[in-house]
Amino acid sequence: MRKAILAANWKMNMTVEETTAYLKTFLAETGDATDVEVVIIPPFTALAQASKLISASYSLKLGAQNMSAHKSGAFTGEVSATMLRELFVRYVVLGHSERRQLFGETDAVINEKVRAAHEAALKPIFCVGETLAERDGGQVEAVLSRQLRAGLAGLGHKEVQETVIAYEPVWAIGTGRNATPQQAQDAHAFIRREVAAVTDAAVADKVRLQYGGSVKPGNAAALLAEPDIDGALVGGASLDPRDFAEIVKAGKTAKSR
Ligand code: PGA
Repeated sequence: MRKAILAANWKMNMTVEETTAYLKTFLAETGDATDVEVVIIPPFTALAQASKLISASYSLKLGAQNMSAHKSGAFTGEVSATMLRELFVRYVVLGHSERRQLFGETDAVINEKVRAAHEAALKPIFCVGETLAERDGGQVEAVLSRQLRAGLAGLGHKEVQETVIAYEPVWAIGTGRNATPQQAQDAHAFIRREVAAVTDAAVADKVRLQYGGSVKPGNAAALLAEPDIDGALVGGASLDPRDFAEIVKAGKTAKSR
């Protein structure tokens, strides 16, 4: 059984003060449910405060939105894996389409970061996904295959198994237009087959795959009911603690069946 994983990617939102208020509300709504894993992914500046507030919770984990592939040194503006580990960060989002498109991160750079994360015992939430033009051009599988094989290159089987792979079609991110459960399931099944091809069937069976792109309380249950969707990476709707709590509950219900 794969444990469901619901993650809140706050992007460049939330001050320290807002983080405190959010987590108070969220913890009151959800309690400490150990049957699903919940990851809160604040901006760097709010990690320390979030870390303090969730330290008593067993099922709530902390994630970062990015990290440097380098260990330390003259890299102005960058944050290292060790700095994240010090704040009890467990997960790190890598290869998000906003990093790929707005900050020029290539498959090769993302692979360096994925490998650096594992070396530091941080689990990557590694994002892949096609643009609308690529989908319309019948390129979905080719794009996913390229991103997956490049991003996971050089990892051992255990590291692949401990990587969370997020399928985030670019056309569904922040647009209000989510992939249908069937479109998402098809992509997830393909990703699992690709993972089997680069590792083996046992790893592919255990690796957790998240869907991301306009997940909301109203569509989460249907998406999470699909057999190869093990969780969600939520942007916009995760900024409201009650909405995100509803999505977590939908995950619990869908995956306890
Ligand atoms: P969204 O973002 O939920 O706002 O579409 C998802 C993401 O970018 O992870």
